[in-house]
Amino acid sequence: MNRKKLIAANWKMYKTPTQAEAFVGTFLPQVYGHTRDEIVLCPPYVCIPTVAELVRDTNVGVGAQNMFWEKEGAYTGEISPAMLLAVGCSHVILGHSERRQYFGETDDMVNRRLKAALAAGLTAIVCIGEVLQEREAGITDDVLRRQCENALREISGDQVSRFTIAYEPVWAIGTGKTATPQIAADAHRVIRQQAALALGDDAAQKLRILYGGSIKPENVKALMSQEEIDGGLVGGASLDPASFAAIVKW
Ligand code: 13P
Repeated sequence: MNRKKLIAANWKMYKTPTQAEAFVGTFLPQVYGHTRDEIVLCPPYVCIPTVAELVRDTNVGVGAQNMFWEKEGAYTGEISPAMLLAVGCSHVILGHSERRQYFGETDDMVNRRLKAALAAGLTAIVCIGEVLQEREAGITDDVLRRQCENALREISGDQVSRFTIAYEPVWAIGTGKTATPQIAADAHRVIRQQAALALGDDAAQKLRILYGGSIKPENVKALMSQEEIDGGLVGGASLDPASFAAIVKW
């Protein structure tokens, strides 16, 4: 199965609009004409209009890092799918481990966000992954199956081109410890098996499964060369334009 890879930058809570503008100005020429992989930048909400305007009609897309599932209402501090679309977003990250860890995000909330994102026409990047204690306790596969099963409740196989799953082992995020290509590929196979139960075999073969966790220019090639790895979600190493361009061009 030939799945086009998606390389996405998750800037987390870094960069003002001015800093984002400087990034894009340096980054765009470095990835000009790169069509082998899909490229998406996910800046903080306040930078989205600036970045979307600068990358319009280029090979680079824009995503948000979170989104609420309601259409509108008295939900102080929240952002709706339609608002993201209105400022030029095509993608949205959902269920990142930092949202689960610090903001009480549950599997059920991730599922509600995913259904709302798909209904609105956004492409979702759904994050799952085990924490260190779960890996050490030998329950990684169970955790991934549970997260995947719950995230994909009431999602059908014909929606598979509209979302990806990002496997982000929490012990590898921001720690400099990358999962070996073998560890990542094994986890991706478990996720694909579970996805097949929810979506059917054909759709599961089409599902793109990204890896995230301490991806850098030095380790990206070994990871992306794995048949099972369909792209990357990059945190720290995506903040510098030369570094992220090198990752995109693995
Ligand atoms: P790092 O690349 O900084 O480890 O972050 C990974 C991540 O959380 C991407 O969503």
